[in-house]
Amino acid sequence: MTVLSPKPSTETAKLNDGSEIPYVALGCWKSSPEDAYNAVLTAIKAGYKHIDTAHIYQNEEGVGKAIRNCGVPREELFVTTKLWNTNHRDPLAALNDSLKRLGLDYVDLFLVHWPVPFKKPASDAEEQFFVKRKGDPTKFDNDYDWDFVKTWELVQKLPTSKCKSVGVSNMSVTNLKTLLNAPSTTKVPACNQVEMHPYLPQHALLKFCQEKGIQVEAYSPLGSTGSPLLKDETIVELSKELGISPATLVISWAVNRKVVVLPKSVTPSRIESNLSIVQLPDDVMEKISLIYKTHPQRILCRDWGVPVFNDEIEA
Ligand code: A2P
Repeated sequence: MTVLSPKPSTETAKLNDGSEIPYVALGCWKSSPEDAYNAVLTAIKAGYKHIDTAHIYQNEEGVGKAIRNCGVPREELFVTTKLWNTNHRDPLAALNDSLKRLGLDYVDLFLVHWPVPFKKPASDAEEQFFVKRKGDPTKFDNDYDWDFVKTWELVQKLPTSKCKSVGVSNMSVTNLKTLLNAPSTTKVPACNQVEMHPYLPQHALLKFCQEKGIQVEAYSPLGSTGSPLLKDETIVELSKELGISPATLVISWAVNRKVVVLPKSVTPSRIESNLSIVQLPDDVMEKISLIYKTHPQRILCRDWGVPVFNDEIEA
């Protein structure tokens, strides 16, 4: 039996614009502002250098406050936030609003959260993220006169003083090809942040992004709420054989594939242990990469009103 000893991850990947991105980040989706504040402080104390948030998570204030209070110089940290669907027509205003909520002068990475422009709500007295279509409350109020290519045309020109790198999220190969082939696209996105875990390894998307110099980031790496991946039979068996926890195994699998990984936790002991990873043997990597064949699953499925996940859960 091989027993591996996990070590805190300090490795970074180089983005196509020259910036360095730490492989293991604290994910903040589904954390309340108070939980996010405490989680970010715990994470940075434990050695994390990379924190991932978004406008829609509604915790930028807590995340930013922790970054400002943590005692680690800002330039040593990598902070990501994301443009919400209602702001596709004005990315600069969205970035400025996020910076205001974060209380920071810049973010390291600004992502277009979804390739799905929504109409701006008539009133933003109470901020509305998921506005419903008039006459059909089962549908979102899509902005069909706009598209993600136009959004990117604006995003790629955002001042680097306010966002060092720019990228996309939830982009399929089909949508990425549309973006990269558009005459208005002059900048290749630095990152594509997508749902990725052993039930959705996205082998073809990863290969495509790696060929194009786009760094892939994995959200919901443990399977999101309740971390279902950690109870998977193969994962449990392999982690026992290697003498590591299921979480360490799954997080290490991502980094071993050169994928930036964003495990979310608000539990101090988990936040601490999730930073430590191992180098996995090739046969273990192979076994984890094949689990989806019997358990294919995308967790975040929704009718967005436009094609988003237009590549099948691929072989
Ligand atoms: P909690 O935040 O209560 O600690 P994902 O990263 O895929 O979004 O998964 C997040 C879920 O996994 C949350 O429910 C989180 O719980 C849980 N989680 C995070 N790290 C671990 C861990 N090391 N062991 C077990 N569960 C974990």
